[in-house]
Amino acid sequence: MVEITRRDLVATGAAAPVVLSSASFAGAATVPSAAAETTVAPRERLLFDFGWKFAFGHGSDPAKDFGFGMGQGDFAKTGEFAFAKPGFDDSAWRVLDLPHDWAVELPFVKDDDAKGDSQLRSHGYKPLGRRYPETSVGWYRHEFDIAAADLGRRITLECDGAFRDVLVFVNGCFIGRNTNGYAPFRFDLSDFLVYGGKNVIVLRVDASFGDGWFYEGAGVYRHMWLTKTDAVHLGRWESTVRPSLNGNTATLALATVVQNRDRQPAAAKVSWVIRDAAGKTVATAQSEHTVPADGAAEFGASAAIADPQLWSPDAPNLYTATVTVSTGGKARDGEVVTFGVRTAVFEADKGFLLNGKVLKIQGTCNHQDHAGVGAALPDALQRFRLSVLQEMGCNAVRTSHNMPAPEWVEACDRAGVMMLCETRLMNSNPEGMAQLEAMIKRYRNSPSIILWSIGNEEWLLQDKMAEQGVKIAATMVQRCHELDPTRQVTAAVNGDNEKGVSDSLDVIGFNYGEDRPDGFHKRHPQRPVVGSETSSAVSTRGEYTSDPKRNTVNSYDGVVQWGKTPEAWWNFYGTRDWLAGGFAWTGFDYRGEPTPYGWPSISSQFGIVDMCGFPKDYFYYYTAWWRKEPSLHLFPHWNWAGKEGQEISVWVYSNLDAVELLVNGKSLGRQDVPRLGHVQWKAVYAPGAIEARGYKGGKLVLTEKRETTGPAVALRLTADRTAIAADGEDVVLVKVEALDARGRAVPTANDKLAFQVTGAGRLIGVGNGDPNCLESDKQPARSLFNGLAQIIVQSTKQSGSIRIGALALDGKLKPGALVVRTKAAKPRPSV
Ligand code: GAL
Repeated sequence: MVEITRRDLVATGAAAPVVLSSASFAGAATVPSAAAETTVAPRERLLFDFGWKFAFGHGSDPAKDFGFGMGQGDFAKTGEFAFAKPGFDDSAWRVLDLPHDWAVELPFVKDDDAKGDSQLRSHGYKPLGRRYPETSVGWYRHEFDIAAADLGRRITLECDGAFRDVLVFVNGCFIGRNTNGYAPFRFDLSDFLVYGGKNVIVLRVDASFGDGWFYEGAGVYRHMWLTKTDAVHLGRWESTVRPSLNGNTATLALATVVQNRDRQPAAAKVSWVIRDAAGKTVATAQSEHTVPADGAAEFGASAAIADPQLWSPDAPNLYTATVTVSTGGKARDGEVVTFGVRTAVFEADKGFLLNGKVLKIQGTCNHQDHAGVGAALPDALQRFRLSVLQEMGCNAVRTSHNMPAPEWVEACDRAGVMMLCETRLMNSNPEGMAQLEAMIKRYRNSPSIILWSIGNEEWLLQDKMAEQGVKIAATMVQRCHELDPTRQVTAAVNGDNEKGVSDSLDVIGFNYGEDRPDGFHKRHPQRPVVGSETSSAVSTRGEYTSDPKRNTVNSYDGVVQWGKTPEAWWNFYGTRDWLAGGFAWTGFDYRGEPTPYGWPSISSQFGIVDMCGFPKDYFYYYTAWWRKEPSLHLFPHWNWAGKEGQEISVWVYSNLDAVELLVNGKSLGRQDVPRLGHVQWKAVYAPGAIEARGYKGGKLVLTEKRETTGPAVALRLTADRTAIAADGEDVVLVKVEALDARGRAVPTANDKLAFQVTGAGRLIGVGNGDPNCLESDKQPARSLFNGLAQIIVQSTKQSGSIRIGALALDGKLKPGALVVRTKAAKPRPSV
């Protein structure tokens, strides 16, 4: 068990009335749901998410694993796998849509025999791993038609990521295997398909092994695609657009690869049409070559954009390059590459410079799961999560510790959030290099990515195996440079940055140990430094005491042994010019790695916001010092029945000059706010109100009040958007609160609720941000936790309206309801 710093605070239980303002959701609403990959005819990219059949197999008993592994014959001859042929009885299998994470559907398990097997705990007490064979293998099956006219095209299965060990079978044939949980994989199915008939695809997904030490989900938790291309087509992730700025002109180095699966050479022309965000063509280029039969050829050209609109967090301007390959004047294949024009460089004495100007990285590290849905995030939820982080002034995210989903990168490109993009496996073996290559090739056109990371905290490679660490890192860094000469490379190192892994890095990444960068900088003044991982502060939303019996951490200054409060780490990274800034661990709470407590904690408490995205008080430290607008946040709440006459610590985060605190109308004095700090008082509790008044230049600028509320009498539902797309994918996030008779949110309400969703939507998950809550994420019911709960509702493909209702199980609260419209939307082309 990790020890945490505790302060002897008087308060117990309870909550802060922290709610997202409507501004929190700005930017989440309007971005179209199409992922960045857009195609040009005749290429088709069909979403392969809908109507899968699913069943659990078994990790050790072939009889319960659809006969897989029974006898030796199935791999011996091609085409023998009966479960992947028409006629196999899957009538008992459940129907579902992807993305799907079965781990989040499982009950929480306390298994005292699992000591020594850290998997259960790492996965937030979800029974995955070799000890739980019944729930660690999932089978996905789909029957689909392929038109006779598709004969001669290349038909490829593409999956953006699945957890973890995936075997793919089509029409009885074994096709291939993928053995990691984060990199996309693809298989050319063309030879195995029945043209003009029924086809069967089966994926056996085995989550018995983990890739990390945190919750990773299980199953096909990202999108699946079926791509159809002409025999002459562009190579996968080979189209690159590399802008460089010379004065007022951006020169674009354009490149791609054309593959020719025909028996004749192809005299091919590649053309590039560059458009600005308004769709206006700003440049064109072309290149011609003969591509050998059954071969490939590289194509390149250059183009220029006069007076380009640069990409930055303030103005995330994007351009597109439509890349088309044609032969004999006829388009054979094409794709649209989204890119931005910007420069991004880390320097030893200036930190980080975007477009030539110093910009401090105000970053957060994040895992990829959310309340209710685990790792299977609908695209709209990715955008929602990013908008929450942006709301607190976060301008960069680190994809700790794995290759991200395309929609997370796309959301960053569009919203203007920078990204430190990290691969999972730090290893120069074939698997490690394949993961690294997939990441760089897939995302190298994205302007949000400012730095690659080849790994995180490789204890041995930094120390006892430093000699190998030097070599492994050098091989990986060199490959990064080959695939992407425009970006620098780092690794997140906790320990010695002067040997092993760090040797060949362009940018030195420090995890924790805030006393170390100063000495390092003195000894190595020529090496750029970033805080790849910092803070590890912990807090429980709405709690103000650290209580190991209740597994709560106070919201004032909770932090793990090796960590720092937001105030402490930012006072270090925010005040040294040569430091690029850093990435706090973590933006969102995440399942698994329960810290600082074990069972019944099923998640970490590192988040600046909880698993639903509801802000904890630390959020407002960042709003004060990461955003420019005047800000003021007063806490705790003022519902302390039973504590009358006792002292309560009252804190204010603000970027104003001075703050005055009033308790029940009486001033406790005005205090100057230290730069990058906070102010605090001890106030004697009596029901009523506390009020903070913030001054700038002697003028009253902001006030905030916390009032003692009455008991909860009603429920209120608030949606992040009033209308969503009727495309079967979009989601609305509904916040549920309890109100007192005067309509004030009750920060201590913990009522048990039930939900009902009717009309053109379905409930896909619920949460409340409580790290110790063992209630199901999938049932239409949830307790409020310190005043809040979240319902996630997905549209169907019918336009109309969704009615979402909530009631208290004991019938004591007036039910709440709201209606969300679903607007007719063209669903993405799908299988
Ligand atoms: C770091 C690690 C993270 C997380 C964190 C908790 O050492 O990189 O993944 O475990 O500690 O503080």
